[in-house]
Amino acid sequence: MENRHRLDSVFPGKKRIPEDFAPPPFIDQCEYLAGGVIHSWPGPFQEVVSPLWVEEEAGLQPFCLGRYPLLTERESLAALEAACLAYGQGRGRWPTLSVEERIGHVEGFVARMKERRQEVVRLLMWEIGKGLEDSRKEFDRTVQYIQETATALKDLDRVSSRIVMEQGVMGQIRRAPLGVVLCMGPFNYPLNETFTTLIPALIMGNAVIFKPPKLGVLLHRPLLEAFRDSFPPGVVNTVYGDGPQVIAPLMESGKVDVLAFIGSSRVADILKKQHPKPHRLRSILGLEAKNPAILLPDADLDEAVRECLLGALSYNGQRCTALKIVFVHARIAEPFLERFCAGIDRLKIGMPWEEGVRITPLAEPDKTVYLSGLIADAHRKGARTVNADGGAVNRTVMVPAVLYPVAPAMRLYQEEQFGPLVPVVPFHDIEEPMRYVMESPYGQQVSVFGTDPQQIADLIDPLVNQVCRVNLNSQCQRGPDTFPFTGRKDSAEGTLSVSDALRVFSIRTLVAAKDTDLNRGLLNRILRERRSNFLTTDYIL
Ligand code: G3H
Repeated sequence: MENRHRLDSVFPGKKRIPEDFAPPPFIDQCEYLAGGVIHSWPGPFQEVVSPLWVEEEAGLQPFCLGRYPLLTERESLAALEAACLAYGQGRGRWPTLSVEERIGHVEGFVARMKERRQEVVRLLMWEIGKGLEDSRKEFDRTVQYIQETATALKDLDRVSSRIVMEQGVMGQIRRAPLGVVLCMGPFNYPLNETFTTLIPALIMGNAVIFKPPKLGVLLHRPLLEAFRDSFPPGVVNTVYGDGPQVIAPLMESGKVDVLAFIGSSRVADILKKQHPKPHRLRSILGLEAKNPAILLPDADLDEAVRECLLGALSYNGQRCTALKIVFVHARIAEPFLERFCAGIDRLKIGMPWEEGVRITPLAEPDKTVYLSGLIADAHRKGARTVNADGGAVNRTVMVPAVLYPVAPAMRLYQEEQFGPLVPVVPFHDIEEPMRYVMESPYGQQVSVFGTDPQQIADLIDPLVNQVCRVNLNSQCQRGPDTFPFTGRKDSAEGTLSVSDALRVFSIRTLVAAKDTDLNRGLLNRILRERRSNFLTTDYIL
């Protein structure tokens, strides 16, 4: 009853929206950044409609936030040319700059970025429906990630600042950039996940083209001037529009050296195949996942319920790391469901800025239709919705639904719902969830809830060979950002973390010389007279 009541009155009249979070003025983005210039674009444009509906005099209306350019192949290829020029086949100013200077540029950018926090946070709420607290967290976590990246590069540089002597050969081994990087992030973390590839790619000396995700574009607009002013021309370029129009030509050109893409494996496969020389392309991919929670009979139920609520329903379940299926031992299924549903009843449904809100409008158009289809399929095949009002919809908002008992024939057993649905599967034998993990096309993470050390240890050993993070009595998650984040099978390619990202956007390269008088003299003069940015023993402090 409570959820139904909240749902019916979830969308506010304009006057009920606090001033600080009022709908932003129409953002008429007629610009894109290429070659160090913010070009103006005459059209066509893509309209951006917020998932947050607003009560107007004429009734409840979708709210138009603004528009952004729908570029064509021409502008996209011009951006590519600008990036290629900036990289200059490794001879450009940016890739040959000293590490310290590149760090300085990035630090300059982050200082400018911090000035735009309020605007970006407001747009995160209005553009993708993310709660205020999570939106602030996304911004602050990104700033912190950039700062930690700079620190990690200083560390890496210090370690590489020595000359190695081995078997009569002197060498200095460092990491060098790879070339032109295409960065594409996802809608659920449009700022954070885009920047966790873009910033390391930049700081390592690559030139970057970045395309914001389909949803979550306008929130990048406040940062365009900062990008233009903080880096040499062509080092950062932006493209907007439909993938086949603006991304296919980039990939088909063969001039993209690294593809950093967070999205679906279907699209990743298409993009990789478009490259004429696939062996030259390096890919860093974050793809689908269907992370299971496994609740053993001796699990601490309060802890499990709390973590499963967080894991399955933070940002309405729209996280690649979300718990997307819950296996519960049949012996504890009933008390688990009871407490879990009571927990869901307490989750506040509302607008992103409301105090304590947990369930907000869903960003993707027609998402509730897709999710309702999954519920109907599960109902037809024998599951029921266990919680009150589960699956009830008002426009873009859906009350979370717990489906039980979910079985292999149901779509929810396999499909990544990426929304507020929690399929719960009872099991009798641990082999059942283990088989699920082994047969799953995904291999990102798993959460195991239990208290018996031997049983947990027996699960850890095989599970670490199936997924890339086994969480004990804790939800699945990416952070802390210094931890490696990756997946097996269809879930990822490459590993990201503050330090790993520096590695994936660079390659080891070295200067070596036989230890002769001539070479020692030569190296000494280059080092002493500080003639090279690469061959140097200077420390960045
Ligand atoms: O969407 C996937 C994100 O990388 C998840 O990050 O676990 O910190 O929410 P998170």
